[in-house]
Amino acid sequence: MFSRVSSLVSTLCLLNTLLPSPAAAVWPAPQKITKGEGVLFLNQNIEVTYNGAFVCWSSSSIPSSEPQPHVYPDHRSSLSDEEEEEMLTENLAYQQIPYTYGYTPSGFKSKEIVQAGVSRALTGIFNSKFVPWILHKPGTKYEPDLSELEWLQTLEIIQTAEDEPSAFKPLAGEVDESYNLTVSESGNVKLTAVSSIGVLRGLETFTQLFYQHSSGTFWYTPYAPVSIQDSPKFPHRGILLDTARHFFPVEDILRTIDAMSWSKLNRLHVHVTDSQSWPLVIPSMPELSEKGAHHPSETYSPGDIEKIQKYGAYRGVEVYFEIDMPGHIGSVSLSHPELIVAYNEQPYHWWCAQPPCGAFKLNNTAVDEFLEKLFDDFFPRIEPYAAYFHTGGDELNKNDSMLDEGIRSNSSEVLQPLLQKFIDTQHRRVREAGLTPVVWEEIPLEWNVTLGEEVVVQAWLGGETVKKLTSKGHKVIDSNYNFWYLDCGRGQWITWENGLPFKTGYPFNDWCGPTKSWGLIYSHDPTANLTEEEAKLVLGGEVAVWSETIDPMNLDTIVWPRASVAGEVLWSGRIDENTGQNRSQIEAFPRLTEFRERLVKRGAASALTNTEGGYLFYPLVRDFKFPVGAHTFFNASMGLVETALEHVSLKSVLVLGPALLLANLAWWLIVRPAWQELKLARMAGARPPKIPSRLPFSIDFVYKSVKASMNYQNLPMWKSLFVNANAATVENRIAGRCVVMTCDPENIKAILATQFSDYGKGEPFHREWKAFLGDSIFTTDGDLWHGSRQLIRPQFIKDRVSDLHVFEKHMQTLFRAIANGGALNGESQRVDLEAGNGKPVDISDLFFRFTLDSATDFLLGKDVKSLSNPRQEFAEAFGEVQRVQSIISRAGPLNVFMPRGSFRKSMKIINAFINQYIEQTLRLDPNDLASKTDAGYTFLHALAGFTRDRQVLRDQLIAVLLAGRDTTACTLSWTIYELARHPDALKKLREEILRVVGPTRAPTYEDLKGMKYLQNVMNETLRLYPVVPFNVRLALKDTTLPRGGGPDGTLPVKVLKDTPIAYSTLVMQRREELYPPVSANFAPVDVYSPDRWFVWQPKPWQYIPFNGGPRICIGQQFALTEMAYVLTRLFQKYERLDNYMEEIDGGNPTLRAEIVLQPGDGVKVAFWEAKKA
Ligand code: HEM
Repeated sequence: MFSRVSSLVSTLCLLNTLLPSPAAAVWPAPQKITKGEGVLFLNQNIEVTYNGAFVCWSSSSIPSSEPQPHVYPDHRSSLSDEEEEEMLTENLAYQQIPYTYGYTPSGFKSKEIVQAGVSRALTGIFNSKFVPWILHKPGTKYEPDLSELEWLQTLEIIQTAEDEPSAFKPLAGEVDESYNLTVSESGNVKLTAVSSIGVLRGLETFTQLFYQHSSGTFWYTPYAPVSIQDSPKFPHRGILLDTARHFFPVEDILRTIDAMSWSKLNRLHVHVTDSQSWPLVIPSMPELSEKGAHHPSETYSPGDIEKIQKYGAYRGVEVYFEIDMPGHIGSVSLSHPELIVAYNEQPYHWWCAQPPCGAFKLNNTAVDEFLEKLFDDFFPRIEPYAAYFHTGGDELNKNDSMLDEGIRSNSSEVLQPLLQKFIDTQHRRVREAGLTPVVWEEIPLEWNVTLGEEVVVQAWLGGETVKKLTSKGHKVIDSNYNFWYLDCGRGQWITWENGLPFKTGYPFNDWCGPTKSWGLIYSHDPTANLTEEEAKLVLGGEVAVWSETIDPMNLDTIVWPRASVAGEVLWSGRIDENTGQNRSQIEAFPRLTEFRERLVKRGAASALTNTEGGYLFYPLVRDFKFPVGAHTFFNASMGLVETALEHVSLKSVLVLGPALLLANLAWWLIVRPAWQELKLARMAGARPPKIPSRLPFSIDFVYKSVKASMNYQNLPMWKSLFVNANAATVENRIAGRCVVMTCDPENIKAILATQFSDYGKGEPFHREWKAFLGDSIFTTDGDLWHGSRQLIRPQFIKDRVSDLHVFEKHMQTLFRAIANGGALNGESQRVDLEAGNGKPVDISDLFFRFTLDSATDFLLGKDVKSLSNPRQEFAEAFGEVQRVQSIISRAGPLNVFMPRGSFRKSMKIINAFINQYIEQTLRLDPNDLASKTDAGYTFLHALAGFTRDRQVLRDQLIAVLLAGRDTTACTLSWTIYELARHPDALKKLREEILRVVGPTRAPTYEDLKGMKYLQNVMNETLRLYPVVPFNVRLALKDTTLPRGGGPDGTLPVKVLKDTPIAYSTLVMQRREELYPPVSANFAPVDVYSPDRWFVWQPKPWQYIPFNGGPRICIGQQFALTEMAYVLTRLFQKYERLDNYMEEIDGGNPTLRAEIVLQPGDGVKVAFWEAKKA
């Protein structure tokens, strides 16, 4: 106990010494800063020069309560303000550059921009009255003594280059914003920058070094000497402000721009119109705002727009506009209804993400003419102050075009070319106006629209989208909604009627909650997981202020200080270059709290940095101090945890345990599902029919499924779900989790092929199967899976799979085992082959042994001899592991409670067996390995030629063993099951075999491929008994399935990330409606009829026993060759089968569907040899 307490104490002592001074000032953090503890006072007649010329100041607006030493003589007081300003600028421009409080430049002259910057900086210091008591313990003496004052002497500003014209409306990266700032002990300040915008950034930093003395008449910095070198990490650092859902008067926007410049943010993206309103006055089309604005007073005139843009440009904040299209444009319908579809359509979620919907008609020349007129009016007015124009493009709902008389389709194939044309035309206009287009990510990613090289894409959906975009070469602005949407977590914006709607909506969360706290915002790195090349394409980011729940009343508290937090990530970088670590909240928090005070004092009504009332951070500073990095904080926390553990009693466990369990249950069963429902409501697409449930959490469904599974009734159970819903895709919520089930070929195609990257095996599957199959081809997605596939695929080339020797050896043992009526008792057991004629045998058991022996031989060069040992340790262990694994995967989260003793024991046996071969192989000299191509060359040798990693070798071997063994054994078993009860088919098969190969010769690969009836037999077996009858894929992102939603099942189905899509090839391949009508030569769907394959070919994706798409079975040719070989060899020898299954299952095969689909009662038959001539 003592040692723990003492370690905690010593940690805290260490932290104390690492503590930065509590008011470490500057936000965002400069790239490099050193500072001392000297105090220097600032007075209002500090000598300010700009490139050698003086910057002087007027006293007119200095509050009289403040000291006014050495005030520049105001000898022009008889002049008007304008005249005075003109004189100041005109007359003194060449010697002195005056500054006055509130000075506004009259144009984009560098001198004036700097002059205005100096005026604002000094206003920020002298007028904001920031006495920092809040940053210090009560009763401490934190203020400097006023008895001896050291004064700052000069502020020397040097701009080292002339401003390019683009400096005031730059494309990302066109203006150099870097600066160096030094404050010497003797009181000289030097600010050097390449551009006037760099000077502005440096002046903001300068402001933040100062506090007001509580005497009210002195201003000081306690940090002298100071040295700062600073430049931004990202060139685009912005806020998106939505002025369509709620309107913001010009003064609110100007105030926002001011606070942006204090935070070194440099882009204001005004999402100026949307379906909710059109506040933008377009003089050539006045009807747009007259009819589309919320109210005539809630509009932006051309003068307003110019004022906002200029105001921003003077502060280094570029204001650019977005007119979102072709969706999110419903408000145009109020003045031009003929251009818009789906405005105000109900229920809205079929047509858009948010009422009142509305999209441009995509195939309509009137829309094009409208946009030409609109752009001709708007672009020339905004182009002088902006480099960009945003054409939107988010959340376009395909269904809208179903209502468009010129299209009447929601098919991507139809819509994509129209959208491409639309974007091409509008972007050409944007370019011609001298602007650069910006679009939302859906345009290139969801719609595959090809964009011009210069077009910037704004990402918002999170996950991998920034990576996807940059890997395709797009320039990106990141606004990941999971981190940087400031409106999230404020509750739902639609209202709910009492009763069922109320219950459905409860507790009325919005789609993207929780609130993005400053800590969460600070944690986001827009370039995380990108390569260096990809990261270069990230121009920066924007926090978004969508205004459903925001208006001028709460604007400031929503935006500040959180936008400044993203501002620091974008200016300073998420990673602190000095430490190479992520910047820590602990270090950031006091600086942010201080900056928040400055925001408030300078006029932005910022929220608190914490929400617990008062300045909670202050006692934390006193008690714990602030460590420099998260690492030391972690040590401290662990110490606290240890201390807490010492106080844990049985009682607290008893109380806490159930409470945690309840909280967990509430989360999984109630809160998460409700949140998901809200999210789904906002997504594009429709829902499929729901499986009705009488009991909560679909307990009745779970019971039915488990019962069906235990009784091998999965097929009728699944069928009934689709039949009852009259649909091929249905949905259910099982224990709070949404699951989609489908037997629709279109949807299966999407999961496996056309939307391959949207779906995968998923991490839970990987986790559950890891102990058995490791990181092998079966359990992984993405790069890991791809690597495995690359490794394994070459081993299945034709040369390898056409080598039939490996099967022949085991065939001879199989014949002996058949004659024996079961597995042999040792290799040397004598068997009377003649006496075995007509002896009943479970051929299924023998097939499992045969395929295990052949597979181990093929893979390792050594078979396990299970055909000649009734009890075989490896085979039993392999069987046991599969049994337990199958239960683990079905048990879902409850699998943690499963005993795993037999599983572990069996895994040991399997690993020991496989590892001995791996060791033997790795002992071979790599050169020998490379030259080894003789008969002893195995799959393992080939793999070891590529990797010597034992774990990789082990994982892949076991995966292929599992894939190759049971699958072929099951298919062979079902084939014999059916041939035994279809003697005609057997007769035809045998005739073909004898015709092509004769009674004794071993068949060649070409013989096997050339036997059409044999191929039909195998195809027909795999049609009725696909080996993987039920399968599942997890949605790896929010996405859709192409079909199954809406009242008639034709709309795309919306699918949330992490939703499992269960699909059944077994059900699909037995759907009558996918087949031609029954006729004389086309048997009913459930009947085994190899002959049907002479007259019929299944349509693509309606027959997929080997799966399809990029993950199609690698061993398909190997399996078909092996099975054809076995069947040929068998029926060269045997001419007929006695069927014993009728008495066992009454002719109704037991479909045992665990991992693979196998005959649940075995396959009891007797083989009869042909009479020898
Ligand atoms: C009748 C025999 C077979 C059938 C019906 C069959 C069917 C399938 C199916 C449906 C899958 C997809 C599983 C999924 O992704 O969920 C698959 C994958 C695979 N199969 Fe087969 N298989 C057979 C035989 C074999 C054999 C003999 C081998 C190798 C010796 C093999 C190797 C593989 C491998 C490696 C994969 C994983 C492919 C990937 O994920 O990229 N299969 N097989």
